[in-house]
Amino acid sequence: MLKLGILISGSGSNLQAIIDAIQVGTLEASIEVVISNKGDAYGLNRARMAGIQAIHIDQAALKQAAELEGSAELTSSEAVRLYNQAVRDCLIEHNVDYVVMAGYMRLLGKEVLDAFPLRVLNLHPALLPSFPGAHGIADALAYGVKVTGITVHFADEEFDRGPIIAQMAVEVREDDTEDTLAERIHKVEHELYPHVLSLIAQDRVVVEGRRVRVLPV
Ligand code: GRF
Repeated sequence: MLKLGILISGSGSNLQAIIDAIQVGTLEASIEVVISNKGDAYGLNRARMAGIQAIHIDQAALKQAAELEGSAELTSSEAVRLYNQAVRDCLIEHNVDYVVMAGYMRLLGKEVLDAFPLRVLNLHPALLPSFPGAHGIADALAYGVKVTGITVHFADEEFDRGPIIAQMAVEVREDDTEDTLAERIHKVEHELYPHVLSLIAQDRVVVEGRRVRVLPV
């Protein structure tokens, strides 16, 4: 059984879609732990309501504790390293096979990527390589594209760059606002992310350099 560790920062609607897919049996996997870098992420509640261990890893608190222990002030890159090591250790402790970023709004450190090579997934609300970054939906709308979409890809040490596993297009309508477009994009995300995870659970995803092949059943 595929064991997942899910990283979130916010609402966790994609986490919910994964929980639901496991519950209805379309995804054969288990969520071993949900980690958030934000203490008030609603996704932490969703995880707890589903009986999943949900942990807030707080960079500021880790920094403070390390400074009290070592008496010297940490630089910001030392604090980031400490945080990423804590995330990695938590994932390893929970024995996860794959790390799933679901609305995790920070760059994942080398510490985690090295511990899970080609085993970290990210979801982006645009058709990469177009509109990377934190505002993929707004940027696509402002640019005036007629078609945008979503991308599921392996993460590497750059934002939104690793090999692409799956994409789905979403049409931009004449009267779309950021909210209406986001709503349709989220709907597609909630279908595609659990689907990609089920392909991985069935061992059907093969990476060849930048190309990712999905093997037939
Ligand atoms: C999604 O749109 C995802 O593409 C982006 O962040 C959003 C997360 O939403 N990376 P949620 O927290 O899963 O509701």
